[in-house]
Amino acid sequence: MKIYLVGGAVRDELLGLPVRERDWLVVGGTPEQMVLQGYTPVGKGFPVFLHPQTKEEYALARTERKTGIGYGGFTFYTGVDVTAAEDLCRRDLTINAIAKDETGRITDPYNGLADLKKKILRHVSPAFTEDPLRVLRVARFAARFFHKGFSVAPETMELMKKISQTGELDSLPGERVWQETITALNTNNPEIYFEILYQCGALIYFFPTLRENYQPADNNMCCPASTAMMMAAEEGQNSLIRFACGFTPWKSCLADSVACYQQISAMVKQLKIPSKYAEVLLAVVQHLPDLIAVEKTDTETLLRCLERMDAFRRYERFLVITTACDYLLRAAKKQRGQQGWLKEAASACQKVNVGKIVAKGLRGRQLADEIRTARLKKIEKCLHAAGTPCPDNRAGQ
Ligand code: CTP
Repeated sequence: MKIYLVGGAVRDELLGLPVRERDWLVVGGTPEQMVLQGYTPVGKGFPVFLHPQTKEEYALARTERKTGIGYGGFTFYTGVDVTAAEDLCRRDLTINAIAKDETGRITDPYNGLADLKKKILRHVSPAFTEDPLRVLRVARFAARFFHKGFSVAPETMELMKKISQTGELDSLPGERVWQETITALNTNNPEIYFEILYQCGALIYFFPTLRENYQPADNNMCCPASTAMMMAAEEGQNSLIRFACGFTPWKSCLADSVACYQQISAMVKQLKIPSKYAEVLLAVVQHLPDLIAVEKTDTETLLRCLERMDAFRRYERFLVITTACDYLLRAAKKQRGQQGWLKEAASACQKVNVGKIVAKGLRGRQLADEIRTARLKKIEKCLHAAGTPCPDNRAGQ
């Protein structure tokens, strides 16, 4: 029995990156031997075992054959006669098909080392097309390693196009699509993930509302949504802000935000996007036109805008929405600063002592009016204090 370190751990080590997770390949072993040595079987579909101490995954060498449609339709063969090279052959990319034994000796039957040097993401064999998840994986690796100079081999891109055209993407559960997407959003260059998916035809399949953000514009300018996502990534914003920027269909949203809202609702449902993300994206689509118009508005309209955004009850969410909108407006080279006003105004309104007003014994409409009046005063005061005349005052100057 011989054990190799395989997959991402070998790749990342060779690239000089920190290793996050280690996967092991067992050649010449049987399930019985593994159990005798204290490993715990965990694989539902194929023989994978957890190490008794490290709890890392050890998989018996296997060959695979496609027997059904899509992502899960495989039968596999594990036997003591399956070699490391045979196991590595079923893997997605040459740079992921390198094995290292306990002495540090490298087994590299598909020239992964050369591709690491050339910075190429290249498929191992035509069997690449048997797993549609690989379209998303390659786009994700392209985003993750873009800053190191990696790109997708043209022949691999051809196979990705083929997978996208055959309807195989249908078999991918929404959760898997989301898992790859959120991982890609957290890379240095999330825009590359979407660009690669656009090039191979998968973007339109999974995220039809994003077509307008990634198709090349007449003037070759990047769409504000993609630029905003890049800026948010550069400035270290979290995945929620990156997602809200990159997934806002900029043109449609400004043209008809109600129709756009409906399309996005359908997409988030279909892909089962977690509600925390879906909610923020929908709020951005809903309020973006409002936030663009806010500069032309008076104090009363400013307060109504905050009320519509539920800024007082859900202050944290309001901050996320305005931050995402701020990136979008900056990317679109729209005048800046309005979001700053709104945030200042919302934070000033937070200081209104609602309890004190309630204690006056007011009820219903009267109570609501009194709270509004107090908030309006706070907004005016804070805008003056910031040295920015209120828009309504400015109009009178
Ligand atoms: N693999 C594959 N096809 C897939 C999934 C995985 O060929 N659809 C193989 C690759 O050899 C990969 C290894 O299984 O390197 C381990 O998969 P995984 O842990 O999902 O990815 P990593 O390559 O380790 O990358 P990451 O750093 O993202 O974990």
